[in-house]
Amino acid sequence: MPTPDSSSPQVVEGLEGVVAAYSRICFVDGVQGRMLYEGYDIHDLAAHASFEEVAYLLWHGELPTRVQLDALNRELLGARALPEPAMAIIKGMPKDALPMDVLRTAVSVLGVYDPDARDNTRPSNVRKSVRLTAQIATVVAAIDRARNGRPPVPPDAGLGHAANFLYMLRGERPDPVATHALDVALILHADHELNASTFSARVTAATLADMHSAITSAIGTLKGPLHGGANEAVMRMLLKIGDVSNAVPTIKQMLANKEKIMGFGHRVYKTEDPRATHLRRMSEELCRRTGQLKWYEMSREIEKYMLAEKHLHCNVDFYSATCYYALGIPIDLFTPVFAVSRITGWSAHVLEQFADNRLIRPRAEYVGPRNLTYVPIDRRG
Ligand code: ACO
Repeated sequence: MPTPDSSSPQVVEGLEGVVAAYSRICFVDGVQGRMLYEGYDIHDLAAHASFEEVAYLLWHGELPTRVQLDALNRELLGARALPEPAMAIIKGMPKDALPMDVLRTAVSVLGVYDPDARDNTRPSNVRKSVRLTAQIATVVAAIDRARNGRPPVPPDAGLGHAANFLYMLRGERPDPVATHALDVALILHADHELNASTFSARVTAATLADMHSAITSAIGTLKGPLHGGANEAVMRMLLKIGDVSNAVPTIKQMLANKEKIMGFGHRVYKTEDPRATHLRRMSEELCRRTGQLKWYEMSREIEKYMLAEKHLHCNVDFYSATCYYALGIPIDLFTPVFAVSRITGWSAHVLEQFADNRLIRPRAEYVGPRNLTYVPIDRRG
């Protein structure tokens, strides 16, 4: 893009460093590598909380009491089944449709059938947040079952959110290690301040459109490989590399070709992403347990090389890829699984936006031509 002259406003490409909202949901310190949800350190939450507790925290600004958590769990359980027309649309999608595209469509359809569809008050939007959190897990599992010609697995009321998701995906109850790993991954992915998809949700909400419109926008934004889509790209890269001994030579060649290495770099973190600390450890444990430690070892080689050569740290998507792979999740569901978690953060931000709303409408610096004369079509060219 041309450099603006001195009289034109300064364009901040990619809005880097621009502070666009007040928020109390997630604090990110990219220099110290610190991250908080509503004041609680992510390390503490990953060690002690459940995903359901974190969801409550993001929506209500405080940790739930036992009674409040039980009530939320009951609401989530009650919302797991999809309205039949929404399930029919998932089943009717082409078998080779991208799961993120089906998920985006399904959430839009769920908006039509939501019992609070015409109500944009906070109580209604909290109910929609809970409902969407339960439903998105069901949608993602149903997408995989449907494209493999299998019927959806009805949710199991005896299982928490993470375990029930794995159950609906595989048709068998997961063991405690897999359940705990997914629960922690969901906590780590639940929110991250004004990342691209959350910003997208807030922009939509700021027009006073509804929750489902905002979440549909967010899902479309999450899909891209520079954002949530990176976790799928990481795993495809590792599979292509194939062996630990090929890792560094392949990365060297990719960098020489000026290719970006997926799962590295971050707009905000200039040090270790605190989420990566957990995911690295989980990746080692999960890969070892499945007898496929090489995916972890390959990742470590790449991580060390990228830090030494490019001073780039890995981001949340790098080790989540091998965690999900070791959990047996199909690669093109990695980004939908990100959404299974991030729905809580997106909806919390929509609630926050509605609570103190102003239309988000920045300006563009015009760099196109001016004063052109209209030429009738048969006199052009
Ligand atoms: N591989 C190689 N070089 C990189 C990478 C990478 N992954 N990331 C950044 N760089 C380099 C760029 O080439 C650029 O170098 P230059 O100044 O010599 O041109 C410099 O670092 C700055 O990079 P930008 O792309 O300008 O940084 P920006 O803040 O705009 O982008 C982003 C951040 C999109 C995350 C970027 O680092 C990237 O593309 N990473 C790979 C995709 C990825 O992993 N995305 C997931 C992010 S986490 C999430 O969204 C959940």
